[in-house]
This record gives sequence, structure tokens and C-alpha cells, in this order.
Amino acid sequence: MQALRQFYLSRYYKKSMYGLLGLGFVGAMLLISTKIRRQQQKQKSLDHLQSNELSTQGTIFNSLDKCSLSNLNQVRTLKTSIKLEIDFKQQIIQGRVILTMKAINDIVKVQLDAKMLNVLQVKVNNEDTTFNYRQQLVQELGDQLEITTQKQANEEFQIEIIYQTQQNVHNGQVALNWLQPSQTFGNKHPFLFTQSEAIYARSLFPCQDSPSIKSTFDIELTVPEPLKAYGSGILVKETKDGNNNTFYFNQPVAIPAYLFAICAGDLEKKQISDRTYVIAEPALVNKCSQEFQDMESYLQAIENYLTPYKWSQYTVVVLPKAFPFGGMENPNLTFLSPSLIVGDKSETSVVIHEMIHSWSGNSMTCQNWECFWLNEGITTFIENKIVGRIFGQNQQTLHGLLGDNSLKNSINNYGPTHTYTSLSPKIDQQNPDDCFSAIPYQKGCQYLRFLESLIGENLFQQFIRLVVSQYTLNSDQFKALLEKFLNENNISGIDIQWQSWIIDPGMPKNQLNIDQQFKDRYETLANNLYESQLQLEDFQNLHSNEKCYILDLLGNKQITEKLMKDLEEEYQLFDSNNPEILHRVLIYGINCGYKVALGDKLSQFLSMNGRMKFINPVYRALAQKQPELGLRIFNMYKNSYHSIAVAQIQKMFQK
Ligand code: BES
Ligand code: ZN
Repeated sequence: MQALRQFYLSRYYKKSMYGLLGLGFVGAMLLISTKIRRQQQKQKSLDHLQSNELSTQGTIFNSLDKCSLSNLNQVRTLKTSIKLEIDFKQQIIQGRVILTMKAINDIVKVQLDAKMLNVLQVKVNNEDTTFNYRQQLVQELGDQLEITTQKQANEEFQIEIIYQTQQNVHNGQVALNWLQPSQTFGNKHPFLFTQSEAIYARSLFPCQDSPSIKSTFDIELTVPEPLKAYGSGILVKETKDGNNNTFYFNQPVAIPAYLFAICAGDLEKKQISDRTYVIAEPALVNKCSQEFQDMESYLQAIENYLTPYKWSQYTVVVLPKAFPFGGMENPNLTFLSPSLIVGDKSETSVVIHEMIHSWSGNSMTCQNWECFWLNEGITTFIENKIVGRIFGQNQQTLHGLLGDNSLKNSINNYGPTHTYTSLSPKIDQQNPDDCFSAIPYQKGCQYLRFLESLIGENLFQQFIRLVVSQYTLNSDQFKALLEKFLNENNISGIDIQWQSWIIDPGMPKNQLNIDQQFKDRYETLANNLYESQLQLEDFQNLHSNEKCYILDLLGNKQITEKLMKDLEEEYQLFDSNNPEILHRVLIYGINCGYKVALGDKLSQFLSMNGRMKFINPVYRALAQKQPELGLRIFNMYKNSYHSIAVAQIQKMFQK
């Protein structure tokens, strides 16, 4: 086409037109020129779309997702074949990805999300193609790989990209977390894991990094002996070649890029039931299998409330302590923090939560990060139900109350008018990490409870089943689905209070409805503890959720030196092996300058944990009360935290 266009514009062409050519040739040229003109017009209209429609931050790249630099409206990925060779020595990955794509309309280019990648070669349908790698096109979102290629509407084609990841010398925020042997439990072998949600898949491979685009995956991972590698799919084959092991996985269900995950290290796999498995370092795998022994019954309880589990196997990996979350719902490969291994199964609600994402999030996926509540709020709502069915009504109520406390904390942190306290926050070319908090989880969950109270439990269960059967949803589509459902079930005259729950910022107007007697019981326990009247044995017999709730209630009182001394000496909470408890006590101690909370116990806690839910609020308290100490400890341990955590904690000390 390019050659023809040049020919068409050349002097030689004009001469020949006036000279020798007969009618047939003229006709042919006319046809070609019309085609070229049409093509030019199309190009103009694409340029128009891309330069004229501005978001508040700048150019809009597509109308589906303001956190993606890909032309999602014009082309979509159907299948991803990815091959990664993991080089622990250099801490880089050699990658090759083949994206099978389909043009939605006539296109002249494919734009992909990328971040900190060295792209070496690009082929379209096996032919070398020119490309342009734009670094930091939008600072918060990363790079863009633009590939020039003309395709017609509905045409399918393959893009093959050979690339490398870069050594992360400047601690940029990326998915990969490389660990030294000393950062593992076994102390012998290096380790690698990824965290792609929300917008870090683009640092693993060039892709359409938006939850609105879903693709099936073939994954091939090569690691040196004796290490093992796992990917977010079903293991289909493993081979050995000299000093290398290669593992092949297939993900037959179309998933968004943020659910792509790998991990590699000295790992062992144990079967728990027909379809559930635990993977962990050899030194930990037995303990982990015990903690998660009941996974099959959780899965069945969820299937009972929802629909059959469609991903065949369910496997969890317990990662080293640097893992920045409690859990991450990577399909067929849920990642878990080792902080959940407390010995009494009291933290297993995180596993239940991640399992539920197999429906809400991984089957029905939020269309973009402004409607993230559809992933997390729905999951938290179902989690609460399942906790009730498995552990009883009291645990369910407590679970809800603890969630409500975290909601209040988060709204307090942002201030009640901040857009991030809305379930439709404005995230315009920003990193969705900035607005990550308990709000989409708890406000979202409470909204669903509110809706359930309007139409009754049975009918609402049907609605939730309908919701999780969708492919992707945004908030407006959720609303339309709800209204249609209500209509079809002849329910009229109810007010779903959309504006107040979904659009408005701040605390929900309808407060959680909890039995006063239930609350009073814990108020009394907290008062007794505050007045040194609570017997040690009575405290010890409580479930860790009850202890946490009581500790939260103490936060309404003045935290005194005497109370801290009781918590330390009488109840021995500074020795708790449960970080849910320990981080609460440390924060109280930091806030009132209690010595024990500023010494070894503190630095040990911050060196032993990388989970942001715990270390972030501790660092936040330090940044406010003891910034020098906080910064000193942070500098000591930051190399062992994930780059996502490092970025967030760094910000606290800059304010
Ligand atoms: N998908 C989230 C983790 C996540 C969210 C990672 C956003 C990156 C960006 C996961 O399902 C989750 O919610 N984990 C929670 C546990 C849950 C019980 C609240 C966590 O890690 O604390
Ligand atoms: Zn979640």
C-alpha cells in the first residue's frame, strides 16, 4: 500500500498517465486511488478520535478504560501465548509473546500497554514489522508499544513480540518481585513472584492491559534446576533440558491480563482433595496444608450459594513474606501471604474471599478500575455469607463489624468528600493503586446488603447468580441488570438509592443494622479490659476476630501507658503470632510513644511482614509520630518489600 501511494504521488506516474496508458489501466488506477483516499480518510478519523477527545489528564486512548494506553475500541486480544525464560542471576526475563488479535474496525496500528520492557523484535503474521516504543507516554501508566499494521474489520492476525524485562535498579513499580535466598523460608534458593493487579501485567509482557479485554492463555516457563515454576492455568506438561526445567500451562477460560501470574522457586505441591491443592516451600508445605485442609468444603459452600466451580482445579500458593497482599485471586493459582498461617485456621476467610473471585472478578470482571467495587464489593458480600454458613452467625456479624471499622478508617484517611470514597471514583490516567482501600470492599458489600434487605434473601441470591454469569460489567450495566431483574420479577416501588450509594462520596447513609445486644457484649469486654478487669483466660479463649474487634473498640478511648502495659504484660499481645492483632497493638503503642512498640518488636514485625494491610498503617503511624525512626526502619527493610509497597510507603514520608 505504501509503495502504491508513493507511486501514485510520483512524477513518473503523472507522465505515464498522460502518455501511453489505455482505458483499462486508468480504470484500475481510479479504483486504487479511491481505496487510498478512503484509507486516508479513515486514518484522519482515527487521528481525530485520538487527539481531539481529551480526558481531564490528556489524550484519551480508548473509551473503555482510562488506565490503558491501548486502542481497545479498535482491536482486541483473543489469545495469548507466552514463553518466559527466568534468569535469576541477572534478574531479568527473556520473553516471547504471541497475541492473537481481532480488528474491530479497519485499523492502521495496534497500540499495546508496556512498562520497562526492552522490545527486540515485532512480527505481524510472521513478517518483521516496524514498531515504536514510547517510554513513559503517561507517567502514571507507563509505556506504549505502537505497531504499524493495516487490518480490516473482523480480520484476525498474530503479533509476535520478542522482548526482555529490565533489571529494576531504580525500584520502579512493576509486577516482578525477585527475592534473594535470604528472603525465603528455606534460605537456599532465589524466588520470583508477580503481582499484576491492577496495572502491572504491562511490565511482564506487551498487552492490552485492561480488565475489559479477556484472552485465553498458553504459558511456558523455564527455570534452572531444581526450581519449579507455576503459571495461572492448568499444568499440561513439564520437560527437562540439561540444567533447565520447563513447565507448560493452559488457561482455557478467557481472563484479563491482570490475572496473569507466575511464581518460581523451591516449591512443593500437595493435594488436599480431588480438586484442591497447596503449593509452598518444602519447609512450610505441611503447615500450610493443615491450615487450608478444609478448602473443599469452602468451595462446596460457595457453589451452593452461587453456581458450579468452572475452573476445574483450585490451587493456592503460600508465598514468602514479601507478598504485599493477603491474597490474590490468580486463576488456578491463588497467591497467599504466609501471614495467614497462624495455626488455628482463623485467617482462612481470605482463602474464601479469593475462591469467590473465581465467580466475581474472574468470571464476571469489572470493565475498568473505576468500577472495581464490582469485583471486590460483590466478593466481600458473598464472603460474608459463606463465613456465616461455615463458621456461624456470630462470626459473620463480627466479620461485618470489622469490615465496617475498616470502612470508617479509610473514609477518615481520605476525608469524606474525596472522590476515592465514592464507589465510582474518578481515576483518570492515574494508577488505581492510589485509590486502593477498604471502601470498594466494604461500602460495596454494604450496598448489596441494603439491596438484599429490600427484596429478600432468596430473590437476591438469584440476582447475584445472574450478576456472576456476566462477562464484564461496569456500574451502569450493573444498574441496568438490576432494574431489568426487578422488572421481570414484578418488583416495583423500591428505591435502590443509586446516587447516594454509588455516586456520592463518604459514609453510606444507611448504617449497618447490628443487634445492639451483640455490640454490648463486646463493649463490656472492652471496658473490662480497659479497667484491667478482664481475666487472662477469658481473653485467651476468644477468637482472634473477637480480640481484634475489642482492640478496635479500645481505639475510642484514650490509649494510656497503663493500658499498653496490660496489653503487653498481662495479655502478651506483643508476642502474638497473628499480625491482625499485633499490628493493632503496635499502632496504639506508636501513637502514645510506648517504648516496647518502638523497639525490637516493631522492627522485627516490619522485617517479618510485607503485607501492605499490616505494614502500611504501621508506617503511617510512624510517619506521623516518629518519622525519623520510621524512615530508618523503612530504609533497612525496603529491599525486601514489593515495589508496589515501597512506592506507597515512600509517599507517606514525603508528606
Ligand atoms: N484482588 C485483591 C487484591 C488486590 C486488589 C491486589 C487490588 C491489587 C489491587 C484480593 O482479592 C484481595 O482483596 N485481597 C485482600 C483479602 C481480602 C480478604 C480482603 C487482601 O489482600 O487483604
Ligand atoms: Zn478481593
